[in-house]
Order: sequence, then structure tokens, then C-alpha cells
Amino acid sequence: MALTETTIRVDVAGAPYDVRIEAGAIDRLGAHVRDFVRKPVVPIVTDAHVAAHWQARVDAALGAAGLAGRWLVLPPGEATKSWAHLAQVVDFLIACDIERRDRVIALGGGVIGDLVGFAASMVKRGCGFIQVPTTLLAQVDSSVGGKTAINTAAGKNLVGAFHQPVLVLADPAALDTLPLREARAGYAEVVKYGLIDDPDFFAWCEANGAQVLAGDMAARTTAIAHSVAAKARIVAADEKETTGVRALLNLGHTFGHALEAETGFSDRLIHGEGVALGMVLAARFSVRQGLMRGQDAERVAAHLHGIGLPASLPALGLGCDGRRLADHMLHDKKMDAGTLPFLLMRGIGQTFLARDVDLGDVAAFLDAELAN
Ligand code: NAD
Ligand code: GLY
Repeated sequence: MALTETTIRVDVAGAPYDVRIEAGAIDRLGAHVRDFVRKPVVPIVTDAHVAAHWQARVDAALGAAGLAGRWLVLPPGEATKSWAHLAQVVDFLIACDIERRDRVIALGGGVIGDLVGFAASMVKRGCGFIQVPTTLLAQVDSSVGGKTAINTAAGKNLVGAFHQPVLVLADPAALDTLPLREARAGYAEVVKYGLIDDPDFFAWCEANGAQVLAGDMAARTTAIAHSVAAKARIVAADEKETTGVRALLNLGHTFGHALEAETGFSDRLIHGEGVALGMVLAARFSVRQGLMRGQDAERVAAHLHGIGLPASLPALGLGCDGRRLADHMLHDKKMDAGTLPFLLMRGIGQTFLARDVDLGDVAAFLDAELAN
């Protein structure tokens, strides 16, 4: 299943759009976006890390198509998903005289995509935006599906909107400049699609994950395309996460979120690392519940560990007990009428939503994992 480029349709009602996956696409950005923009000057929002590597190339690519970028370069990092930077992006778009049928380009990782998408959802009651994701996480997950958000003092992603982009342009070559730690973190989200419902893709990851991270362009493109196709199917089936289908994308996130909260949403554990360890814990908890074979859970742990992702709780050196981690889950935004829906597994590729998980059982399980 080696690929070099492909286009995947995200078939959401009323606003379908394409995800174009193409190595070198950023160097042809002007040609890709020309039919989507109506004015020669296009607003672009990015962060300083991405700008350092890509701004000059984007300017050249726009210039080749008779377009020019008007840039807003924000500080890198999760803290940029804030009220203050949301206001800055909104003011920038208004200063650009953006109209509803105009588009702003979000060039960057999930932070820029979430922030700019949210700003676009509210300016003029909704203008268009184009996602140009530059991290593996953003290419396989956050740029697709229309979830946009900022963080507040009370927690992550608590304020946001569903607002679909008009185009996603994922360039696997953009990952050439991405730090390895960030690439690994994004890779956890690739593995997630295998674990949800595709055991053959999990086996493909076991065989090809190292090449994806080493920069093999065909392996990268295949991983991105397969992931986007899986996400597109799920989003088309349940755009606003109302039926439980889209909730499958949260595999590993409940455990992961508790670990991110305990480590203060800091560099000690970045999001994709939390998801990786969270998926291992979801698998081992499923074993403890008598749902999954121990050897399957250990296969998940072995692959993620082999890639260089965290797969063991004691290695984090948390210094807390299972109850404290479970308490973080009570503040999870997925809480529903006092219960927390949990994603568990009957096997690799057999994830399901359980609504009857006892947080006391989760705390006892985490105590056992912490002691291992
Ligand atoms: P990020 O946007 O912070 O990017 C990670 C780091 O890589 C940053 O320092 C950034 O400056 C740098 N970077 C990005 N592209 C680069 C490149 N090509 N070369 C060099 N450096 C580069 O983080 P992320 O992991 O992409 O996204 C995490 C965010 O995504 C979180 O806020 C999370 O909540 C959100 N998210 C959203 C969804 C969704 O559906 N909307 C899904 C998953 C995650
Ligand atoms: N990343 C989870 C979702 O898009 O639903």
C-alpha cells in the first residue's frame, strides 16, 4: 500500500472538502489554493518555529501563482491557544478585511489549526479557512474534522466550535523539519486508527512505523493517507460526536488526559505521548476487565515502546496514587450526566465505548500499574 500522493474527501453534510496529501505541496501552495481565494493577498497565521523553516518557501510558492501572504506569526506552544491570541487572530482577520467567502490559511500544528479555525468560526459569523498542517499529529488528526478550540484557566479545549476547513493540504515533506519527539507524539495518533478498528493497519504500523519516523516519504504518505481516510469515515458518520462513533477517536485520551493534567500539561509529557501511554493503559485495563488477551495488550505496549514512546507508568515518576489520577478524570469534558464514557478494547482493532466503568476500579488498576 505504498503511496506518494492522494486526495481524500471528507463527506460532511453541507460542507464536504478534500484533504490533499502530497509531498512538496507547500512548494506548490499558490497553485493549490488559487481556486479557493478570491483576492491576491491571503491572510496566513503560523507560529515562529514554522515561520523560521517555511515562511520564505510559502511566500515563493504564493508568488509563483500571483498571490502574496499577509502574515501573523504567533509564539509557538500550547499557551498560544488562549483568549488573548484568539482576540489577536480575530483582530488580524478583521484588519485584513476578510469576508465570509474569503479564506485564511492556518500553517502549523494543532495549536495553530485549532486557534485559527476557532477565530474563523466567529469572524463575520464564519469565514473560510484552509488547514496546512505541519506536524504529523495535525496531518493525521487535528486538521481534519472541524474541531476548533482554545484552552482556558479551567482546562484544555473547553471553549470552541465545530467549523470545517474548506481544504486541507498535508505535505509529508513538511515533517522534515519537525523535531523527532513531536513526530513520535503524532505517530501515536496513527497507531490509534489501527487499534480502533483496523488490525491490518496496526500490523502495517508494526512493520513500517520506524520508516515513517525515519522520513521515508512513501511510508509517511501511506500512514497519513490511511489515517485521514479512517478519520474522514468517522467524521462523516458522526460530525458533531453525538452518536458515539466519533468518540472512538478518543481512544487513550481519558487516561492520557489524566496524565497530562498530573504533569501540568508541560513538556514532561506532550499530548501524543499521553495518548500513547493512555492507549497502553486502556489495553491493560481491558485485560483486567476480562475483555482482551494479555498478549494483545503487550503487543500494543511493545510497538509503542519500540518506537520510543512512553508505554509504562512508573517511568513517568509521578509520585501520586491511582485515586489522584482517577480524580483528574472527573474533570474530563467527556463526562456525561455523572458518568465517564471509557474506550476499551476486546482486541486489537476492536475498540468500543463502555459507559459503565467504575472509577474505583480504574483507581485500583492505576495503583497496580504504578507499582509495576
Ligand atoms: P503544536 O502545534 O504545538 O506543534 C508542536 C511543535 O512543533 C511546536 O513547537 C511547533 O512550533 C512545532 N512545529 C510545527 N510544525 C513544525 C515543522 N514542520 N517544523 C518544525 N517545527 C514545527 O502541537 P501539535 O502536536 O501539532 O498539536 C497539539 C494541539 O492539537 C493540542 O492543542 C491539541 O489539543 C490539539 N488537537 C486538536 C485536535 C482536533 O481534532 N482539533 C485533535 C488532536 C489534537
Ligand atoms: N481528535 C478527536 C476528534 O477529532 O474527534
